[in-house]
Amino acid sequence: MKNITIFGTGYVGLVSGTCFAEIGHKVTCVDISPQRIESLNLGRSPIYEPGIEDMILTNMKKSRLSFSMLQDVNIDKSDVIFICVGTPSKKDGSSDLSYVYQCCDDIANLLESKKLIVMKSTVPVGTCLNMTNRINDNLKKLGKKFEVSVLSNPEFLREGNAIFDFMNPDRIIIGCNSDTNKQFFLDLYKPILQSDKCMIFMNKESSELTKYAANTMLALRISFINELSRYSNQVNASIDSIAEGIGTDKRIGKSFLRAGLGYGGSCFPKDVDSLIDQMKSLGQDSQLLNSIKSINSTQPTFYIDKLINLKNSKDQTISLWGFTFKPDTDDFRETPALKIINRYADKVKCIKVYDPFYKSNNPIRDSFDNVIFCTNKFEATLESNLLILVTDWEEFRKIDYKELNNSMKEARVFDGRNILPIPPEYISFSSINNFKKI
Ligand code: UDX
Repeated sequence: MKNITIFGTGYVGLVSGTCFAEIGHKVTCVDISPQRIESLNLGRSPIYEPGIEDMILTNMKKSRLSFSMLQDVNIDKSDVIFICVGTPSKKDGSSDLSYVYQCCDDIANLLESKKLIVMKSTVPVGTCLNMTNRINDNLKKLGKKFEVSVLSNPEFLREGNAIFDFMNPDRIIIGCNSDTNKQFFLDLYKPILQSDKCMIFMNKESSELTKYAANTMLALRISFINELSRYSNQVNASIDSIAEGIGTDKRIGKSFLRAGLGYGGSCFPKDVDSLIDQMKSLGQDSQLLNSIKSINSTQPTFYIDKLINLKNSKDQTISLWGFTFKPDTDDFRETPALKIINRYADKVKCIKVYDPFYKSNNPIRDSFDNVIFCTNKFEATLESNLLILVTDWEEFRKIDYKELNNSMKEARVFDGRNILPIPPEYISFSSINNFKKI
């Protein structure tokens, strides 16, 4: 059992902290927000993640998990300190590291003995070294006679599957420049390691870059299949058949080859931008990364532009099924839905949205007068000229087409995720996948 302090109770910090407690460690999570700490102490999670609240309560009851303000914690009692604070994108695509450096300053002020410090947030290459130097400079100024080294251990947690991903890692990457800490990490992660081989040690810079490499590789696969879908749609080829055809090649694999409206969320867009920026700062202009980004930014409206006749669009109502960037999350950061809304809101009469998470709550009500959030899917399609399926929530997979057909003004559906069966007797579909050229 290790004593762990986690800085930050956002997605990464809360999931990692709770899961570390679940596998037997004693964890204290700290945050700068008193409201967050107060609500976590009542067992309420500030993030939406299936199963997290039950796990928090169970581990609090077993006294393995607690939440505190930083000033109330003795970080010297910890065996390891994980930094899991936000690293949002700045306007120019670079990462804002102000929260990270604030943690470094707090640690230097509070620490009285040498500790293992581990960076879990996604940070540009070289950040662990900069953090190490910053903390050590401050320790020296404060007359403290020890030094620390910040190691790297990036997370690979999918929203909505984060607990599963933590408990069943394909690999755990540890960036450390010496062998001394290897046994510590093997012990720390022992209950969830499938084998020692799934823990990969490398230097800090490689570890930091591995995180960007993983996410940009997945984004690349999505943009590749999306670009190919634009061509396959023109030549009577089905992009889903092609994905299956290439995915069965073990060298290629099946995952992240689902064509659709593009990727969103808090990671892929931010990480592609950040890697572009990091390369640029060394004079390297990445054509590949810029293409991934450009395909993704045009994908949400590429087909829809052809379906909405802008000449008479002012009396059209369009419906969106799904608003979040993917199913089983409340997260709508960088969602294709917003790109669609931003493009057409002032060109059509009304946009009606139904999302299983935002049933009676319109999170963008202040920005758009004519965007209405509905409480069920057929309310959203009432008198509609075009239905766009944006998010592949489970409940959209089974549809009563008769009801859909009755509710819509025109029977036009654009399946942006290729999940709907195609019953031509009910509705004339326009989709990436049904061999109809758009
Ligand atoms: C991602 C990574 O998967 C995770 O390892 C990382 O550390 C955090 O970022 P997440 O953002 O939660 O996780 O979403 P993920 O499930 O990976 O999906 C990302 C986006 O890609 C979604 O918008 C999804 O709809 C889209 N996607 C995914 C596709 O369009 N096609 C696919 O085949 C797969």
